[in-house]
Amino acid sequence: MSEGRRFGPQGSENLGIKILEEKKLETFTDGDIVSPKLYSDEVRLHKMFAHLRAHEPIRWTEPAGYRPFWTISRQRDILEIETASDIFLAGQRNRLFTKEEEQRIRERYGARPILPSLPTLDAPDHRKYRGIFQEWFAPGNLKKLEERVGQIVDERLAHAKRLGGTVDFVDDVSLWVPLQTIMMIFGVPFEDGERLHRLSGQLFNPFDPDKARKTDGQGPVEAAQELLDYFKVHIDSRRENPQDDLLSIIAHAKIDGQPINEREALSNAVTVFVAGHDTTSSTISGALNALIEHPECFEALRAGTAEVAQAVEEMLRYVSPVRNFMRVASRDYEIGGKTIRDGDAVLLMYPSGNRDESVYEEPNRFRLDRGRFTHVAFGCGPHMCLGQMLARLELRAFYTRFFQQVRSAKLIEPTSWLQTNFLGGPKKMLVKLQFC
Ligand code: HEM
Repeated sequence: MSEGRRFGPQGSENLGIKILEEKKLETFTDGDIVSPKLYSDEVRLHKMFAHLRAHEPIRWTEPAGYRPFWTISRQRDILEIETASDIFLAGQRNRLFTKEEEQRIRERYGARPILPSLPTLDAPDHRKYRGIFQEWFAPGNLKKLEERVGQIVDERLAHAKRLGGTVDFVDDVSLWVPLQTIMMIFGVPFEDGERLHRLSGQLFNPFDPDKARKTDGQGPVEAAQELLDYFKVHIDSRRENPQDDLLSIIAHAKIDGQPINEREALSNAVTVFVAGHDTTSSTISGALNALIEHPECFEALRAGTAEVAQAVEEMLRYVSPVRNFMRVASRDYEIGGKTIRDGDAVLLMYPSGNRDESVYEEPNRFRLDRGRFTHVAFGCGPHMCLGQMLARLELRAFYTRFFQQVRSAKLIEPTSWLQTNFLGGPKKMLVKLQFC
């Protein structure tokens, strides 16, 4: 199978992606831009992004097995496209699926997306459906969760301490904090945590051999269906007996005075649930990895000379677990000297935008002295992450308690990263934590 265009160092007009570093010329292909393997190698990934930003910030990309698209790697172009949400629409294609996966989705759901929910809606419906959740995810309402989230963090750190401090930081610690938080918000039993986590992994990481669904011929479509079936039982019960939880709000939601239909309720429930846990868990673990690699920052947080709330923004910028989302142009649009044609798709590379050297000094260093800055880890525009305040609350709760209780952290072996071109982060992270 061809990997798409590769361009040699002899410089055709379109130089492609090549990098001269330490006298070693490294070339990339269109295939690399979608390669789950490449995304598990943070160093190469960011070399590729750096080259794209420098030489082809808006690149027509034709990887084998995918419909083509423009790769958008500079922060200002990502912001411009996401803000022009009347032109760049989410409804037709918002995720990087292979042609094969798109075919499977079509066979099962016709022209509809796998989960017809917030990320796949455009104006005016998008605003109406987002309104169902807006109040719930507002900072004032989230404040009531702080204490309980703090307890969940304390329980995980106590668990790590009981294990003598030698833990897989992902499996033993980081995944449980956002998972149990979102389960509490939805009002589903903690015993189902392992199953729900496994299904989210199958939905988001079908290329990672350790996460993909094991049943022959099955993949994200079947994982999504199992999640829909799971939440159907709970939504049905909330219709009968409303509780003080988010599922009850979804079960009773109305748009233009009419109850939303079952598929919309279920798809939005699954979307918010899965969006709300691996993202934050990857940021917690990716941040610890970064802090171990930048010991001066670890020390500043431990000693209290740097603020956790500020550090959280750098964690989000540096880790950027959501690798991309897509949009489709609804008319010709000029940007960065290129013409995006009506019907062309664009791939918005958030981690690249967050290492843009025209925005950040030393973008590849984790630093706590950046002052106030913005980033695109949560995207921007009308689809900007619904759960961003919750994610910040969890990250703050985690790292405040972590630095009260943990004196040092050391990697026992190099961290391995998820093989995924969508929702990335550490997969296995063996560390030795020393408690105070
Ligand atoms: C560190 C954690 C998180 C990161 C990095 C993250 C990142 C993102 C990104 C990049 C988008 C797409 C934005 C766009 O298209 O412009 C998004 C959308 C979304 N996120 Fe998050 N997210 C995180 C946590 C959460 C949490 C905790 C929840 C909810 C519990 C959540 C729920 C959603 C939803 C529902 C959307 C779709 C919003 C829409 O289309 O209107 N996310 N997130």
